[in-house]
Amino acid sequence: MFKLLKYLNTCKKEAILTPILVMLEVLSEVFIPIFMGKLIDEGIKGNDISLAYRYGIYMVALAILALIFGVLASRKAAIVANQLGRNIRKAEYEKIQTYAFENIDKFSTSSLVTRLTMDVSMVQNAVQMNIRIAFRAPAMILFSITSAYIVGGNLALIFVFIAPFVGLGLWIIMRGAHKYFVQMFNKVDKLNLKVQESLSGIRTVKSYVREDYEIEKFEEVIEDVATNGKKAEKWVMFNNPLMQLSICICFTLIAWFGSYNMVVNGLTEGAFANIISYVMHILMSLMMLSQVFLMIVISKASVERITEVLNETSSLTEKQDAVSEVKEGTFEFKDVSFRYKDKDILKNINFKAKQGEFIGIFGATGTGKTTMIQLISRLYDASSGTVLVSDIDVKDYKLEVLRKEVVTVLQKNVLFSGTIRDNIKWGKEDATDEEIISALKKAHAYEFVSKMKDFLDTWIEQGGVNVSGGQRQRLCIARALISNPKILIMDDSTSAVDTKTDSQIKETLREETPNMTKVIISQRLSSIKDADRIIILDTNGINGIGNHEYLYAHNEIYKDVYDLQQKGKGSEIDE
Ligand SMILES: Nc1ncnc2c1ncn2[C@@H]1O[C@H](COP(=O)(O)OP(=O)(O)OP(=O)(O)O)[C@@H](O)[C@H]1O
Ligand SMILES: [Mg+2]
Repeated sequence: MFKLLKYLNTCKKEAILTPILVMLEVLSEVFIPIFMGKLIDEGIKGNDISLAYRYGIYMVALAILALIFGVLASRKAAIVANQLGRNIRKAEYEKIQTYAFENIDKFSTSSLVTRLTMDVSMVQNAVQMNIRIAFRAPAMILFSITSAYIVGGNLALIFVFIAPFVGLGLWIIMRGAHKYFVQMFNKVDKLNLKVQESLSGIRTVKSYVREDYEIEKFEEVIEDVATNGKKAEKWVMFNNPLMQLSICICFTLIAWFGSYNMVVNGLTEGAFANIISYVMHILMSLMMLSQVFLMIVISKASVERITEVLNETSSLTEKQDAVSEVKEGTFEFKDVSFRYKDKDILKNINFKAKQGEFIGIFGATGTGKTTMIQLISRLYDASSGTVLVSDIDVKDYKLEVLRKEVVTVLQKNVLFSGTIRDNIKWGKEDATDEEIISALKKAHAYEFVSKMKDFLDTWIEQGGVNVSGGQRQRLCIARALISNPKILIMDDSTSAVDTKTDSQIKETLREETPNMTKVIISQRLSSIKDADRIIILDTNGINGIGNHEYLYAHNEIYKDVYDLQQKGKGSEIDE
């Protein structure tokens, strides 16, 4: 919990004022029983009605004061909780933006969503509901025990004996419930994953008439969440009975010893009424305190999950004196191997591409094509060996500079909700309309964009669902081309574009961007047939390198697939 205190920086004043106001509230309240005792002993028993009225007025005034301080404290607490929630979310979001792909893989997107939304809400609610009570209850207990001791002497010690037992009980409950709350939140991660997956893929679900299956899967996940919630509640349910029991014991003891003291030691009725009020205060505070503990248990799991996000360091680090210019569009793999966790993907890759070269990459699904090209712009770091761009290790560049000059049109490319202009400008913030149009033309996207009613202002829905697959791919290519990078990588980026347009795009790129090094991954050999060199990847690494003629004559995989695709028996392999 304390780790998150620094996120109170924008509401320091309120964070300090809240406990002060709470103390004032408690102070106002603890004086009320004193006046009540006096009202009974001096006013009623002393037959002095005007004195009774006066003490009555004091009590009302104190109650009003307590109310005012209470309201003010609650208001400040609400500000503190909201600011805390806002600041933690901001910090988490900023941290996630620094993550490398590897860090994102570690958490999974859906878990990050939960950690950014629900977990922060849990903490925020816990603070909002409890900050006042957390200060109020202990202060109330302390003041009340002290006052009760002054008025009733040893009677107050009963609380001191009961308190350790209550504390122990609470500790056992907290310990028992905590692990189930942690498990429950992990299940909520799975729930979010399921929701995200099935809603974003709802069209696929419907086209395969898999609704019932999806509902069944969903039920399994929510059942899991409920089961863990139930287990945690099993512990939590002891909380109230424990409190009730302690209250009963305290009351009985006070009543016994109180009446004994009245009869034997001459304790006055006023003092006894006084002590009974304090007993109420103390027991109420104990009840509240147990709720605070409970909330702490629940939010502890959330706090841990949030701090995990905040403490995660990006697996990609930048050197202090990092290189800030990419001179040439050459790149090289020197003995590069790569593994995801413990799964070896790339083995001893050696390859050098020249400036302006058109490199094709071909290989069956899962051979590591995407993995290989992601190393060039440092989306991942090689497990061993070196990847160089313009003869400098990619790890020596400023990330921003490297990614500006090595642009990848990812296989899973996405458009964001916004206009076409907004989307293309992602590649270059200050791009003019002329530059946007020129990029669209190169990507052969101009033709369909110009037919759209709002042209560059056409609104793209979230995920680009209102443009066709091929159109989306071409817009993504335009987005990459607009910054005129030194190296352009297209990962299966024209798979949904018709063969004719596909070759036109490649031809335009060749003619209009001769100095740009182009790396094109494709399952369609016609798409990379004209490349200067084609890399054939298989599960053992590079199987062959050469141009079309060379590979057709010397590489079995290439020849077989090429012949197969020429015959029109299929344009993809192994899928
Ligand atoms: N983020 C990841 N975490 C763990 N394993 C991964 C990850 N991404 C890919 N893999 C695994 O690495 C292997 C290579 O994946 P990669 O995406 O590089 O293949 P690919 O050649 O691009 O395939 P495709 O032609 O289908 O795009 C696959 O076996 C895949 O399961
Ligand atoms: Mg791939």
